[in-house]
Amino acid sequence: MSEEERGPDGSFSRGKFESRPRIDYDEASKTYDHTRSPSDGIVELLDRGFRFSPSTVVLDFGCGTGNYLRFIYANYRSTCCGVEPSEGMRKIARGKDGALDIRAGDHRNIPFANGTFDAIFMTDVIHHVDDMDTLFRQLRLKLKRGGKLCVVTESHVQIGNRWYNPYFPSLIENERKRYPDIGDMDDSASRAGLSPLFQEIRPSDPEVVVGAEFVKMVEEKNYSMFRLISDEEFGTGLARLRADIGKTIRCPHHGETLAWYRKG
Ligand SMILES: C[S@@+](CC[C@H](N)C(=O)[O-])C[C@H]1O[C@@H](n2cnc3c(N)ncnc32)[C@H](O)[C@@H]1O
Repeated sequence: MSEEERGPDGSFSRGKFESRPRIDYDEASKTYDHTRSPSDGIVELLDRGFRFSPSTVVLDFGCGTGNYLRFIYANYRSTCCGVEPSEGMRKIARGKDGALDIRAGDHRNIPFANGTFDAIFMTDVIHHVDDMDTLFRQLRLKLKRGGKLCVVTESHVQIGNRWYNPYFPSLIENERKRYPDIGDMDDSASRAGLSPLFQEIRPSDPEVVVGAEFVKMVEEKNYSMFRLISDEEFGTGLARLRADIGKTIRCPHHGETLAWYRKG
């Protein structure tokens, strides 16, 4: 896809997503940790790529409530830094471990010196950033030479295969507008001077049992996609999900993609 392609509907165009909806994460912070926690599979893959140790200086960009950072500090004693625009999320992250260095910022303002980090990662953040080119340029500046960046996200194919899509019919289209596809990220990172290395997949289970915890997560809208659909669609989908608790659903592969980059 050429850089100029795609329209004014908020979808990818030269790395910018002008009509990207803003989510109130101060509000979301009140329930975020009820149902969100670090995924074992993701932590394992991050460690395989970064080889965390006490000498690793790591940035979790858009660190939210600090779940990943707390885990990395507890297990590897790396120097753990976070950047997060929401005060509510930052407050919770700081409360988890005084050793975490959590600072206010976003993709336009990353308040650490250039060349600080061996490792930068971001989980479930890139679809909130309205200017990917600026994001990748800023992250490149903050990496040491030879440092690596990992973006954890979902491709458009993975978005299309989420098992719960049939409950909320407008999700697929909404989400594909919000999320850059992997090739778009690679193009933008390359423009910023980062070299795409490889991608890997954290697979999802081929069968899902509709669980009370997932339904609670939907009720609390702990994934921002549920804050972006109509009340009517939300209510209907939620009622159907509640009725299906305990039901096994076969689902096509979705999972998440980890896209790796290096500063040469
Ligand atoms: C779905 S949460 C993910 C939080 C955390 N990374 C995790 O996996 O639990 C998305 C986070 O991205 C943050 N965010 C939104 N826009 C951002 C931006 N422009 N730069 C950095 N972080 C941003 C939000 O405040 C929120 O904490």
